[in-house]
Amino acid sequence: MERPAAEPGAQPRANGCSGAAHGALRNGYVRGLPAPDTQIHHIVHNGGLYKKPFNEAFEETPMLVAVLTYVGYGVLTLFGYLRDFLRQWKIEKCQNATEREEQKDFVPLYQDFENFYTRNLYMRIRDSWNRPICSVPGAKVDMMERVSHDYNWTFMYTGRVIKDIINMGSYNYLGFAQNTGACQEAAAKVLSQYGAGVCSTRQEMGNLDKHEELEKLIARFLGVESAMAYGMGFATNSMNIPALVGKGCLILSDELNHASLVLGARLSGATIRIFKHNNMQSLEKLLKDAIVHGQPRTRRPWKKILILVEGIYSMEGSIVRLPEVIALKKKYKSYLYLDEAHSIGALGPSGRGVVEYFGLNPEDVDVMMGTFTKSFGAAGGYIGGKKELIDYLRTYSHSAVYAASLSPPVVEQIITSMKCIMGEDGSTFGKECVQQLAENTRYFRRRLKEMGFIIYGNEDSPVVPLMLYMPAKIGAFGREMLKRNIGVVVVGFPATPIIESRARFCLSAAHTKEILDTALKEISEVGDLLQLKYSRHRLVPLLDRPFDETTYEETED
Ligand SMILES: Cc1ncc(COP(=O)(O)O)c(C=O)c1O
Repeated sequence: MERPAAEPGAQPRANGCSGAAHGALRNGYVRGLPAPDTQIHHIVHNGGLYKKPFNEAFEETPMLVAVLTYVGYGVLTLFGYLRDFLRQWKIEKCQNATEREEQKDFVPLYQDFENFYTRNLYMRIRDSWNRPICSVPGAKVDMMERVSHDYNWTFMYTGRVIKDIINMGSYNYLGFAQNTGACQEAAAKVLSQYGAGVCSTRQEMGNLDKHEELEKLIARFLGVESAMAYGMGFATNSMNIPALVGKGCLILSDELNHASLVLGARLSGATIRIFKHNNMQSLEKLLKDAIVHGQPRTRRPWKKILILVEGIYSMEGSIVRLPEVIALKKKYKSYLYLDEAHSIGALGPSGRGVVEYFGLNPEDVDVMMGTFTKSFGAAGGYIGGKKELIDYLRTYSHSAVYAASLSPPVVEQIITSMKCIMGEDGSTFGKECVQQLAENTRYFRRRLKEMGFIIYGNEDSPVVPLMLYMPAKIGAFGREMLKRNIGVVVVGFPATPIIESRARFCLSAAHTKEILDTALKEISEVGDLLQLKYSRHRLVPLLDRPFDETTYEETED
């Protein structure tokens, strides 16, 4: 049962939210203790733009934890400088970080802070990343065991495979990344018929009937006039944005947008302005400013204004405030580019993404972009929209003209999984997967909150960041979880703000309740071991709740 939201129609607060009675910070972050009857979630109705409550929580870092995190980084930095000094005088035994004699005339490799950070901080916990897996990225994975004898500078494989690790890190939202079942069978059949490579671009000899079939299907799935598929999601953004805007245009980009959007924006030559993450006041201010002042110096109006946002933000677990973005885009007559890499398949009652999640009209989004690497268990990206837009991109996009087209078995994997989600395979399997993911998401998030962890993001987001904060805990969490046969992704600076290191879980419809319960038990145990249960707004476990599921227990740290 949802707790009653703020007054319907209430005006947004400074952070674009209503309903949070306590101090609101950037991006809707929560500051301080809420009033006793206030929950930490933001529930937004915002003048009827939202058809259902929009619950997002970003509990503020407890002061003591923030101080200890900075102290941790301080100590590591001091030791780093000491070790660099010892390296210089050849006292330190491990000389991997120093430049070789024969490279002395090259541009120095180890100079700035990033290199200092890599050598002295990242290297200590490097074993937590790039672990090679040797199976499909399903609910469980097999991993190659490796050891390092030189403090993580190099790794050696022991030849042993660690079997059946619970996979909490892959973007396999709907569980289609499998080597058995309908998708695999269809892809294998197409492989034997068409081969693996196309060896040409779409405009030359690489336009297969399968590509045409896929694009018609995508357009139907998205509810748009036309669509085009590309061989790589990253290139879909970085190569298509420059085809859409250029000099004299303005891009308004969310501060947490993915690197592919950032690269595309930079390559376009358009002027880029950044708004605070999912903050509608910040976006509106930039839009107003752009309309009032026009281009710098000449004061001519901008040729185009393009807003770049993502459906689900993969580090924050937040969902774009799409109804508000669309309202602003219409008000200021700008264009909207929506990257649904993480939300397509994963949100909405039938997996149609964030537009369906909010019950909006796909026509209100000018450029619908997404990738096949997540919910569809395949590779590549797409753009959907009006026919004129897609016809234009077919001719002017570098990734359409100069890159080989998608591999046929990959195309078939996408077609089969998409048809399954749409129910066109004659079964309800796809729909069940979408529902299962939604259930797993709510269950996993709620249980972590009951345990007392600080969890970021929207309650419907299958991307679940669990805050670790301290640098030492990044590596410790990854290692302890692996010891317990759970594979997790840990993230720290520079991918996150320096004090906001986290573990990032990705839920999947392939996770059974048993798998989730095992993972939760181990996470709780490691949470106790590493003292990670920082939340002052621990959720009361469902069974013990006297009233409803949004009752909170206040705990002082
Ligand atoms: C928001 C977003 N856009 C684009 C991409 C790039 O997609 P791909 O990995 O399929 O190339 C990613 C990758 O994770 C992403 O998160």
